Amino acid sequence: MRKKIVAGNWKMNLNLQEGVALATELKAALAEDKPNCDVVICTPFIHLAKVADIVAGTVIGLGAENCADKEKGAYTGEVSAAQVKSTGAQYVILGHSERRAYYGETASILKEKVNLALANGLKVIFCIGEVLEEREAGKQNEVVGAQLADSLFDLTEDQLSNIILAYEPVWAIGTGKTASAEQAEDMHAFIRGCIAGRFGDAAAENISILYGGSCKPGNAKEIFAKPDVDGGLIGGAALKCADFKGIIDAWK
Ligand code: PGA
Repeated sequence: MRKKIVAGNWKMNLNLQEGVALATELKAALAEDKPNCDVVICTPFIHLAKVADIVAGTVIGLGAENCADKEKGAYTGEVSAAQVKSTGAQYVILGHSERRAYYGETASILKEKVNLALANGLKVIFCIGEVLEEREAGKQNEVVGAQLADSLFDLTEDQLSNIILAYEPVWAIGTGKTASAEQAEDMHAFIRGCIAGRFGDAAAENISILYGGSCKPGNAKEIFAKPDVDGGLIGGAALKCADFKGIIDAWK
């Protein structure tokens, strides 16, 4: 049975003290009212070690938002997968559309990052999704299919078991425009079909596919109710404990 997951992506928000406060608040909220799904928070690098201590022994998993495409060495300002892992984090987001668009992350760079993350024992939340012009041209399947094939199709089935997919239509990220539950389900079913085509039905059945893009307490339940939607990757609404908890509770 594949996992239901709600993951937060803090992006470049919250200073260290604010991040510690949010993680502490979330820990208390989920201790009082146990979630019905896996919960992960993905934070800037600077928060990882402290937040790892806060969430240790709780239901909350921890992830980074990126890692380097090089193993180690003279790459000033970069953070390696091994360094992320050493903080106590178990996950890393890779391929987020903001990384692709603003930092030039190509499919081949992402392939390196995925390999290094997996080799260092991290689970990868791999993001895919089309931009508005691609959707308007009816090219969303082509685009997302290529993103999957170009970065993930050389993995083994065993490696794939440590990948979580996040379908994030770029036009829905931070815009307040959510994909309709039907649009999300269409894409998620297509994505699961691509995975089945390359890795077989069992792998496709087992992989969790999260929806991301303006997911909120008010729309999460309807989206998560779709058969191929296994949870959400949450940006803005992950920055307030009550909103994030409201989305987690959509699984109840
Ligand atoms: P959003 O971001 O929830 O703020 O739209 C989602 C994401 O980019 O992961």
